[in-house]
Order: sequence, then C-alpha cells, then structure tokens
Amino acid sequence: MMALRVEKLTKAFQESQVFSEISFHIAQGEFATFLGPSGCGKSTLLRCIAGLTTPDSGEIFINENNITSEPPRLRGIAMVFQSYALFPNMTVWDNIGFGLKMKKLPVTQQSSLIEEVIALVELQGKEQKYPAELSGGQCQRVALARSLVLKPKILLMDEPFSALDTRIRKKLRVQLRTIQKELNLTALFVTHDQEEALTISDRILLMNEGKIVQDGTAEQIYTEPSNSFAVRFIGNYNLLDNHQARTLLGITSDHQIAVRPESIYVREDGRNYPEHVRHPVKGKVMDSLLLGNVIRYRVEVAGLELKVDLLNRSSERLFATGAELQLLFNAQEIREVD
Ligand SMILES: Nc1ncnc2c1ncn2[C@@H]1O[C@H](COP(=O)(O)OP(=O)(O)OP(=O)(O)O)[C@@H](O)[C@H]1O
Ligand SMILES: [Mg+2]
Repeated sequence: MMALRVEKLTKAFQESQVFSEISFHIAQGEFATFLGPSGCGKSTLLRCIAGLTTPDSGEIFINENNITSEPPRLRGIAMVFQSYALFPNMTVWDNIGFGLKMKKLPVTQQSSLIEEVIALVELQGKEQKYPAELSGGQCQRVALARSLVLKPKILLMDEPFSALDTRIRKKLRVQLRTIQKELNLTALFVTHDQEEALTISDRILLMNEGKIVQDGTAEQIYTEPSNSFAVRFIGNYNLLDNHQARTLLGITSDHQIAVRPESIYVREDGRNYPEHVRHPVKGKVMDSLLLGNVIRYRVEVAGLELKVDLLNRSSERLFATGAELQLLFNAQEIREVD
C-alpha cells in the first residue's frame, strides 16, 4: 500500500503555471526527497499535500483515502519549515505539547508523549527554555519534536536545515535519518541542495519547472543521470557533444556524453590499468582547486576544458598549472544523456 499517492496534481497562480498533472507515489517508511532549483514548485507541492494551498485539480491519497478536500488538521500530516515557526512566548515543553493540548489529550498522556520525543531529538534539560534561548539547530529539533509528537502518517519537511551552518546541518541530517528509520516514518523532504539530497534520501525525485525529470535512488540519480538537466544539477559532470565524444572517446552517438570528474584518471608511468580504463588523451593543466579531500583540476584537452578530480593524498603527485599529463577514461562510467 502506498502511504502517499498524488495523482495529476495541477496548480497555477494567476497566469503562472507551477505544475501540471504531476503524479507520484511514496511507500510506507520511505524517505523521499524533492530536489530542484529555486522556483521549480517544491514548496507549493508540499503545501498542497499538507492542505495549506488548494490545488486547481488532481487528487491526493493517504493510505488510499482521498484527502484532497480534507482540512489540514484531519490529514494526519505534519510539516516542518525552514523558519521553525515556534511560539516565542512558550517554553520548549509547551511548544512541543501545543498540538496535543489542542487535541485535548489527557495531561498524563501528553506528558509521556512529550518526554518520549524530547529524548528522541535529544533535548533533555532544555524543557523550560524559550526559543530565544536556543541555537538554530536546537530550535529545529523542537520543531521536529512538535511534529513527531502528533505521530503523523507522513512528515513533510521544507528545507528544514537550510538556515543552519554546515556542521550542524550534517549532524541533524544523520539524526533525522536515524529517527525516521527508528519510527519507520514516511518522510517527504524538500531541498535544493544536491549533497543534502544524496546523503539523506532513500529516493530522490528530481524536479525542474514543475516536472519530475528523474525518479530514482540516490545512487541512481548520481551515477545514471538520465537527462542534461540532471547532469547539470547533480554532479560536476563534464558534458561532451557528439563531436567531442567522437574525438576524445571514439564514441559515435546522437546523444550528449556525460563523464564525472572522478571517472577520469591521470596516467602514471609503469602502472597497469584495467581494460575498461582507456582512451588516452594528452592534456594541460589550466588550474586547480582544493576542495578538501579532493583536488579538482581543469585540464585543457584538444581545445576542450575537462574537470578531473584526484584524491588529495600526500603521496600523490600534484600538478602545477601548465603541467602536461595524459588522461584515461573509465569507460564503465561514461553516460549518454538526452
Ligand atoms: N502565493 C503565491 N502567489 C503567487 N505565486 C506564487 C505563490 N507561491 C509560489 N508562487 C510561485 O510559484 C512558483 C513556485 O514556487 P515555490 O515556492 O513552490 O518554489 P520552490 O521550488 O519551493 O523554490 P525555493 O527553492 O526558492 O523555495 C514560483 O514561480 C513562485 O513565484
Ligand atoms: Mg521553497
């Protein structure tokens, strides 16, 4: 059974069409991410599912119940926003308990549920603090706890970590993923950050201009982008046209050819390469960029500029600007794209 099924959902604001007849399914316990550039319609889609925005047409099912016309509070959906949206005049405890109070649950039951989620998001000791006394990461964990305490059928998250610094963001991703697995929660996450999508998701729905342009596992989206938008948005792919692919790789194709920077090798004398590492070409280093664990070289090859990533190992040879080298391509990782 699908936890969430969206059928032919359509939404326009005045003259501008956000999406038209968009359809997808999310399975129970799945962590799915909508990834796409700013303005492609991610937030509008989540808001339609939550019931905060009314679609023009189409249907939304939760556990096969049609909830398209249900008010938000009856949908069994919780939503976490980038801006936390906490009540500033309420403590952490009261913020988390707010929804339970509205549901008029017995006080003792409220308390045990609140305690449970406070432990889950590791906010013990902060119960009596006010939002202004917390860090951004702590506020977002309060917002998450406030959603989880209602035991939603589906948790929607709209760029929940994008206001936080990189270190906290990475930590919270891991924490969220652990909680989601522990509770077997169906989660729909939105981000425009490809690294975030790749690290957090079971499945990524890549979105552009109101359309799902690719739907697959994080691994598939990264290694097998099916179209040039995916290539441009996901990796730092080298994109070759027909002529370039023929000259460099001897490939005759009607399609563009995508090669990842880490699929290109710098040939070392005396080293043996497997059979699929081939197509030697001469190149010249234009410049290099230290990315941390990786050094990205821009290499000029037959008038073309290629990105080549090498691991930043102290034992490895470094190449100065102007250095001449020979490149090899991993033929197994060369992709045709539309
Ligand atoms: N309330 C509204 N009234 C009019 N137009 C809107 C409204 N909300 C969104 N739009 C338009 O709909 C389109 C999609 O917006 P949406 O917020 O869904 O994009 P997004 O993918 O979430 O972008 P971002 O990554 O910047 O958050 C945009 O062109 C936006 O200007
Ligand atoms: Mg948005």
